Amino acid sequence: MKTERVVVVTGAGGGIGKEVVKKFLDNGYFACMLDIADAPIEKAINDMGFDRSKVAGYTLDISSEEQVKSTIAKIVEDCGRIDALVNTAGICGTYAPTIDYTFENFKRIYEINTFGTFLMMKYTLPQMVEQKKGAIVNFGSVSGMTGYTWEIGYGSSKWAVIGMTKNVANEYAEFGIRANSVSPGWVDTNMLKQSLDDYNEITGGNASITLGPMGRTAKPVEIANGVYWLCTDDASYVNSTNLLIDGGMMLG
Ligand SMILES: NC(=O)c1ccc[n+]([C@@H]2O[C@H](COP(=O)([O-])OP(=O)(O)OC[C@H]3O[C@@H](n4cnc5c(N)ncnc54)[C@H](O)[C@@H]3O)[C@@H](O)[C@H]2O)c1
Repeated sequence: MKTERVVVVTGAGGGIGKEVVKKFLDNGYFACMLDIADAPIEKAINDMGFDRSKVAGYTLDISSEEQVKSTIAKIVEDCGRIDALVNTAGICGTYAPTIDYTFENFKRIYEINTFGTFLMMKYTLPQMVEQKKGAIVNFGSVSGMTGYTWEIGYGSSKWAVIGMTKNVANEYAEFGIRANSVSPGWVDTNMLKQSLDDYNEITGGNASITLGPMGRTAKPVEIANGVYWLCTDDASYVNSTNLLIDGGMMLG
């Protein structure tokens, strides 16, 4: 069993995920880095200069129940504990007006963002219940708090994530487990680039995004800082909240 605390991060090779891993490592955790393939995990370890004795990579598709179940079982076998679970993995799919939004696109977004987050919680919770302690942070979005254009599938998948977080926060507080979500505005990652490409496609090259009063996108580390805080004892009475990290974009 690991003597240091253990965090499990999905989407750990992504723009925000690798900063989440760094934040936990900087604070003495061992990090289980989960992503859909080896390449993004290896790239993140190399680019960020992570100490290989403090991380372990696990590849899985979080939309597969079998893969989630076996990966969590392996992590419990390897580490003996899971102190924090951060469900960063997600896709935005292809943006389009509702009439043109394909059902396949909609379903794949739900399989990953919504069902994947559910499966990760479902199979990690038994370990946290046994420990009588744990913190879960899920990824919502400002898109899961209002009705942006061209993202009926993505936006509603994030409404669902914010909602599921509250279900778990309610059911598992008695076991010392807190569940919260973060909802970023625009963050400077590949997902933002992909979104802008789609916006340009739809608008014939006139893509524009609302940045809010700070007039800039978030750096991934600014999201990671909020995620980490939610997992600390400083946030010991914070449960079921949706932490908006959007530079005031929603002014909500
Ligand atoms: N970038 C933004 O502007 C923004 C805004 C609001 C919310 N978010 C949310 O933040 C989270 C992280 O986004 P990001 O910007 O770092 O995106 P990203 O594309 O850089 O990273 C996403 C990661 O998830 C992984 N992933 C995708 N599908 C997977 C699957 N089926 N199984 C396992 N791993 C899978 C990808 O390989 C990738 O490493 C997402 O949930 C996203 O919806 C992002």
